[in-house]
Amino acid sequence: MKGIVLAGGLGTRLLPLTKITNKHLLPVYDRPMVYYPIEKLVKAGIKEVMLVTGGNSAGDFLRLLGNGKEFGLRRIHYSYQEGSGGIAAALALAEDFIEDDLMAAILGDNLFEEDLSRYVQKFEEQGKGARILLKEVEHPERFGVATIEDGRVKEIIEKPEHPASHFAVTGCYMYDGRVFDIIQTLKPSGRGELEITDVNNAYIHAGQMSYDILSGWWQDAGSSFEAYARAQNLVRELKLRSKE
Ligand code: DAU
Repeated sequence: MKGIVLAGGLGTRLLPLTKITNKHLLPVYDRPMVYYPIEKLVKAGIKEVMLVTGGNSAGDFLRLLGNGKEFGLRRIHYSYQEGSGGIAAALALAEDFIEDDLMAAILGDNLFEEDLSRYVQKFEEQGKGARILLKEVEHPERFGVATIEDGRVKEIIEKPEHPASHFAVTGCYMYDGRVFDIIQTLKPSGRGELEITDVNNAYIHAGQMSYDILSGWWQDAGSSFEAYARAQNLVRELKLRSKE
């Protein structure tokens, strides 16, 4: 199983913080934001990771992360996304790196309290298709929202005005190699991006999507100043608790 950290995009929702740097290099409590998703993959037993980024600060990731040894990685690969064509467009850049393996892709601004090992293990046992991680949230309209029927995900709607459930689709996605064929069939959405939600719906329609529901907190740190501030607090509390 290989890991992918998606850290492209323009980070416009955090301007002016992102005027001269990439959002994923901003600090979250005591570490740069991108450390958190990398550490989650490593903790889940993944030894080879590709980081996809873009923009003017791409070189800074190399200075920060080097060859990945500090994180316990065997290798870290880098890819450069031109523009911000969407999460699925960023994922497509990892095709040659993945070869015939399964993958866990994680958004560079997503922070998870839980160890993701058992979900990754479940997907390894599943062996094909896709697996997503859901979290019940108070304001699902800010995310991809999943409806569940008879124990299966029936549909995901991206940022619906009137969400049909409270299950947000978090930014950790597990796929088999068919994901790259699916991405090739996608058309840009209203916001001009290749949407990861369209990828997930393709797996759902093929009857190949499974899911887990997270019990620990999950925070998207880069979608607003409020989200960014909440991420700082959650990490701070976690650190303080672990010292007690
Ligand atoms: O945080 C989870 C949510 O992430 C999901 O619930 C949504 O379904 C999914 O679409 C996404 O929503 P956002 O609109 O908040 O995603 P955002 O544009 O903030 O991008 C999230 C990360 O994806 C970002 O930190 C870096 C990566 N990304 C994004 C874009 C647009 C790329 O690597 N390349 C890109 O072109």
